[in-house]
Amino acid sequence: MTTIPLSPSSFHVSDKIASSVYEGLMSSPKWLPSWLFYDAAGSRLFDQITQIPEYYVTRTERSILTAHAAEIVSRAAGENSLRLVELGAGSADKTRLLLSAAVNRQDTVFYEPMDVSASALVEAQIRIENEIPGVLVCPRVQDYTQDIELDATLPSERRLVLYIGSSIGNFEPGESLMLLERVRAALDPGDCLLLGVDLVKDESVLHTAYDDAAGVTAAFNRNVLVRLNRELDADFRPETFAHRAVWNSADSRMEMHLVSNIKQTVWLPAIDVRVNFEAGESIHTENSYKYRKGCAEALLQKAGFAPEITWTDENEWFAVCLARAV
Ligand code: AVJ
Repeated sequence: MTTIPLSPSSFHVSDKIASSVYEGLMSSPKWLPSWLFYDAAGSRLFDQITQIPEYYVTRTERSILTAHAAEIVSRAAGENSLRLVELGAGSADKTRLLLSAAVNRQDTVFYEPMDVSASALVEAQIRIENEIPGVLVCPRVQDYTQDIELDATLPSERRLVLYIGSSIGNFEPGESLMLLERVRAALDPGDCLLLGVDLVKDESVLHTAYDDAAGVTAAFNRNVLVRLNRELDADFRPETFAHRAVWNSADSRMEMHLVSNIKQTVWLPAIDVRVNFEAGESIHTENSYKYRKGCAEALLQKAGFAPEITWTDENEWFAVCLARAV
């Protein structure tokens, strides 16, 4: 009797990864979806990025939330009690600022983080419930880009949905509108959305933020190839691809690319393709859209929200918009 050897990885290949990698690498120009960055190693690298001096995004948004958390929460709540929902499992300290502000106004705060990763949700639950007594975490394993389903609220409750961290920046303009419309559809009139968007700024500031001196962003970018080697049995040599960050002014976005230094062929057995690279040919791995003044508010309005206030930092590098479902 013969047994057909299956490579161990073929048991783990997710259809979603296989099909999007196939589509992206067979396209011209080549691309990979930016959600591929976030395996365990990539999530750790992103955490490191948020702490490097050049990456102003996280600390700027945090400074805005630190200054205005109490006002954000009291505006959103009005005379009601507040229930916080977060798209994504919650960037720990930034979410904590809002949860603490909410706990200061009411004894118990329900917090519903939504994420595709059950482990990220468990971590968030343990952390938050330990650190902020009064917060009850109700995690939801759900892909908010696919559908958004929320618990019904009491008549005395309002929701505040957090979509912070400039996560919306990874979506194409049409996709971000659809996403916000989907959020709106899951809400009742009077509920609020808090949206964090990164703003257009000096090109050199943007460039160094996405190409830091320590090379953490480069490692984050190349990690996607490491992931494909592991999960699709590919034979990328990550060191033969250069990290490139470019400002695309026409489309108002930072782009990340991996540029092949040499002419080469990469074999991806799990999806049964060989991919040829010319020397200098790139894989486009991320778009990070930057908003011009007023654009986030216009988008929110289109999606069925009434923008109420936008807070920004002294440099006007980042904006946090509070908008109400109408
Ligand atoms: C997690 C999408 C907000 O676009 O700034 C950081 C990801 N990419 N450095 C961003 C990222 C390169 C980040 N977001």
